[in-house]
Formats: sequence, C-alpha cells, structure tokens
Amino acid sequence: MNQAELHRLVSAQLKQKNPEALFDLRLATNLSLIQQLFFSLYPEEQHSEAFRKLLNQLPKLFASRPASLKKQDLERLQAGNWYQSEKLMGMQLYVEHFNKDLKGLQQKIPYLKELGVNFLHIMPITTRPKGESDGGYAVNSYHEVDKKYGTKEDLLKLTSEFRKQGIFLMLDFVVNHTSNEFPWAKKAMKGDKKYQGYYYTFEDDVIPKEYEKTLPEVFPETSPGNFTYIPEMDKWVMTVFNSYQWDLNYTNPEVFMEMLANLVKMTNMGVDVVRFDALAFLWKKMGTISQNLPEAHNLIALFRMCLQVVAPGTILLAEAIVAPTDIVTYFGEGQKAGNECEVAYNASLMALLWNSIATKKTQLLYKSLTHVPPKPKDCTWINYIRCHDDIGLGYENNLIHELGWNPEMHRKFLLNYYCQRLDWSPAMGQVFMYNPKTGDGRITGSAASLLGLEKGLIQKDPVLIEQSIAKIIMLHGITFAFGGIPLIYAGDEIGTLNDYSYLKDKSKKEDSRWLNRPMQDWGVVSQLKNKELPQSKIFHTLQKLIRIRKENPVFADHNDLLLYHTGNDHILVFERSNDKRKGLLVVCNFDENPQVIETSWIKKLGYFAQGEPKDLVSGQKIKINSGLLEVLPFQMLWLKRA
Ligand code: GLC
Repeated sequence: MNQAELHRLVSAQLKQKNPEALFDLRLATNLSLIQQLFFSLYPEEQHSEAFRKLLNQLPKLFASRPASLKKQDLERLQAGNWYQSEKLMGMQLYVEHFNKDLKGLQQKIPYLKELGVNFLHIMPITTRPKGESDGGYAVNSYHEVDKKYGTKEDLLKLTSEFRKQGIFLMLDFVVNHTSNEFPWAKKAMKGDKKYQGYYYTFEDDVIPKEYEKTLPEVFPETSPGNFTYIPEMDKWVMTVFNSYQWDLNYTNPEVFMEMLANLVKMTNMGVDVVRFDALAFLWKKMGTISQNLPEAHNLIALFRMCLQVVAPGTILLAEAIVAPTDIVTYFGEGQKAGNECEVAYNASLMALLWNSIATKKTQLLYKSLTHVPPKPKDCTWINYIRCHDDIGLGYENNLIHELGWNPEMHRKFLLNYYCQRLDWSPAMGQVFMYNPKTGDGRITGSAASLLGLEKGLIQKDPVLIEQSIAKIIMLHGITFAFGGIPLIYAGDEIGTLNDYSYLKDKSKKEDSRWLNRPMQDWGVVSQLKNKELPQSKIFHTLQKLIRIRKENPVFADHNDLLLYHTGNDHILVFERSNDKRKGLLVVCNFDENPQVIETSWIKKLGYFAQGEPKDLVSGQKIKINSGLLEVLPFQMLWLKRA
C-alpha cells in the first residue's frame, strides 16, 4: 500500500473532517519515511540539525497554504485517483503563442471547452534572462510571473477560474537547475561561499574533467560539455543543459529545504500537477552518467513525502525522457512504489509510434512495450505524440538487434526519413543536436509536418493530405485510448505546420525545437465551420473522439492494457478491459495499403456476442469477409464489447 492510500484510509476514519487538524496526522503517517529518505541522502552524523530544521519547516509550509486549497486537498484525497479518469483531456501550450498572455488565455477557455480540454500544461511563465532562456526553463524565480505574461494576480484569477470550471493545471518546477541570473547564482558569482555551495562549483577544471569522462552531452551543438567557467568567481560550475543553466547541488540539504519551500509556494498558486523537469539528472556522481541514480529517486520520494504532508491534493509528473525501463522507476520501486511520481510522460510510446510510422511496422512497439515492467496500479501516464521538445530515438538497442536490424543504421534511417533526406518520405522535420562524436541526432518538427500534411499541401497532393490527416487522427486516437491523460500539443488539433520564423530570431535560431513551437492560428480556428478544410477534419474528428472517451468509463486507466499479436506486422491491436463485460479493442493500421486480420480470436474475446461490433470512431458496424477484418490505410478502429 502506498502512502497516498494510507492517507486516504486514515482520513476516512476521522469523524471530524477539519483540514487544519489533519496536518499532524499526515506528518505522523509519513514521518518515518521522511526520516529514512533524508538520512539516506544526508547522513545523520553530520545532518541531524538539518533534519530538525526540516521538521520545523513543514508546519510553516502547511500554514502558508490557502484555506480553499486545504479544503480541496481533503476532497481530492477522498475522491481517490482523479488523475486516472476517462474524463481528463489535456493540452500543452505556450501562453504567449496561444493568446498573448494570461488574460488572453482566460478568454480562450470556451475554445478549450469546445474541444473538450480540461487539463492544461502551461509552459514556464516565471521570470527568466533576456535573450536565450531555454524557453523559460532557465528560471530567475520560481514564483514571480514574468511581466510579458501579466501579473501574479492574473495567474491567481486564472487558476481560480480554472477551479470553477473544472480545469486542472500543470506547471513546471525546474528542479534540476536555475538560471545564472537566479539570486543564488548572483550571490555565488560575487564570491558568497554559502551560495557557491548551492551549485557544483570547482576551483579548477581537474574534477570537471574527471566527470566529463562519463557524462553525456545534452546539447552538444550549442552547449558542449557539462561545465562552464565563470570569470566573475574564477570557478567552474556544472551546467549539464545550457551554459546559463546551473545545476543545483542537492548533496547540500539546505538546497533541498529551500527548493521544497519554492515548490510549496508554487503549488499554493493553485497548481494541481507539478511537472518535475529533468528529474533524472538530480543527483551527480563521478564515474557515472549521473542520470537515474538511486539517490535521485530518494530525493524525489523525499520531495513527494513532504509535499504529501503539506499539500496532498497536488501530484507529481516525472519528466524523465530516458530509456523505457528507466521511466517506470520514477513511479517508485520497492518501498518507494507509488511514492515518487503519480504520473510520468510515456516517452517510450511516443517514440515508438514515430518509429512505427516511419517503418510502417509495429514489431518494435510490441517488443518494447512488453519489455517494460508494469507500472504500479495507482500511477498513470501522460500519453502524447508531440510536445515542445525534440523526438529522441531512445529505443533499446538489444530489441532492435532482436528484430534483425542494426541499431545505428536504424536510427540513421529514422533521421533520414523524418529530416528530409529521403525523396519519397512525406515528413518535413529537421535534425536536432547532431553529435558527430556519437552519430546521435534527434528530430524536430510539428506533428502535421512530420506526418506529411505540409508536403501534401505544398504539392497539392490530395492522397498525401488525406493520409496525413488519417495519421494525425490515428496517433492521437492511440494516446486517447492507451490509458492515462492524453496531452494534445496546442496547434496539433488543427494540424499546425512547422514554424520557420525562429530562424530570424538570434536567441532562437540555434535551437530547432522552435520549429515546433508555433503561434496558435486563430484565423484557421475561425474557419473550422468549413468542414472540407484538412484542419477542420482533424479538429472535428478529435473533438468527437474526446467526447467518446469521456462518455465511456472503459477509457479510464485501470492498469488494464493488453497487447494482442495478430500476425500482421503493420497492425497494432490493444485492448482496454478492466471488467469482463466492458471492453475496448483498438485496431490500427500503420501501412499505406489496406491490411487484413483474422477475427476468430476477436470473437472469442466476446466482441461478437451481439452481432458485428460497432466501431465507435466511424459509428459503423465492422464488416467481415471470409473471417477477415479489413483495416484501411492509417485507420483506427475502436471496437466496443457490448
Ligand atoms: C526539459 C524541458 C526542456 C528543457 C530541459 C531543461 O527536458 O522539456 O525543454 O530544455 O528540461 O530544463
């Protein structure tokens, strides 16, 4: 039983449901775990005073939580795993690209509602350096709203409106690093030893060079290496991402406690889900790649256990874009099972779907998904096909080998397919961060451009356009049905193409991720009534699929996904069925030709109990010829068991 469940049990037994009185009980429930985790990172012999300080800090943090949120915390706790509901539909957006600022966003709530979106990931909105800021992921503050977005009051108004309208909010907590303009970094630069100890700073490059022997590079083209020399303090500082993003030194317990206070302050603004940014990097150890280390997991669990005492209605999302078998570990393993992050990005599914589109085949998808250990029952995925970042090709080499392919050549093929190096490919993406030392590269581009809509429109090719629409719908449909919170990347619901304007901006032109960070096209939105436009077809079909998802509890995540092999390598079939009487069979064709599958096994599963099953997507009964079901190119069927 994980701690959240324990909290639910304990609070259910209380006669008096006074949110204020619950703090002591919550602390008592988590205290021994907090203690264990704390001393595992900060040995008791040196740090017993720091632990006392943490115990003093927790009631103060609780006192800072607004009464309305304390009440909501209690309701959430009692309601159970709200984040696994079929009623949730997410969208990720940049405020300034969507509708100017926070007030502008508030005005567009009706658009979100029309589509069916009720969960928003708003990209960073806090203060950041002028010029390059990694899209706001270099933070100057964890709670001051940058004026280009409006004021803190605007944010508070927005979150209160969201609560009224039943919209959940996810914000980033950039937990691994601050910008070089953050007050701690500024003090460190002035020579303040205390704040130099908040980061990994070194007198010379001897230790950095040792680290470099095993550390990979995140942005090899624009920010090679993992350390930056800072002349102001005549010291080297660890900068794993960009040179202006300084890695926080969590071996120092003061850093943990200050960051916990920042975290609570942020959640107090009305945040439902905290996106723990780049959390795989939280602990560094020489001689390792300094990702996914056991200490990083203990640190995340420590944040989680403390936040659960102060704000149990807020949950954590793991932004761990790492190997498939590593991602699931952020739900917590062993004693920590269910006690790290409740939600994680399903980056594996995302990357595998792009692999299946390029190869038109699904074997690697099947192999990889069955290879990953199951997630704990109270945890869920964020399923998505595109986001503001690149698409990394993080497949497991041994699985590619098992298919008889050469991993290096296979990755090269994918880069060629998506990045305009093959004449016949419909994709119009670009290479991101090619590393000549390793031959690795990643892919950028909007979903629609990667799936052929841009090329189809340029070439005025109706077949290509229709195929790209079908692919856009199929990939999104898979994320709606897979189990978890689907997250549409703003603009994809209207087939937005690549945005090349970043090439004209000095602070952006080196980072091709801006290719897939377009402005929301309200001109297109105003024409959605014209049902013939490709954009309308995408919008209205997704809108329909969202409605179907919300009407059918089988879409809720009950950890009930089953994969079925059909013998046809172009086909993906999975079933969602937590209850023998209600099931959903998802059938997709990744090939540009119609494909058939044998149906006797589908009958055995009970889908024909009342004649041929209906496909929820088209509203038609499926047709079987000689025992075979035909699936059209890039068609997705949602078959419902009566
Ligand atoms: C995450 C963000 C990415 C950013 C990085 C560093 O991976 O998604 O955009 O560059 O963290 O903060």
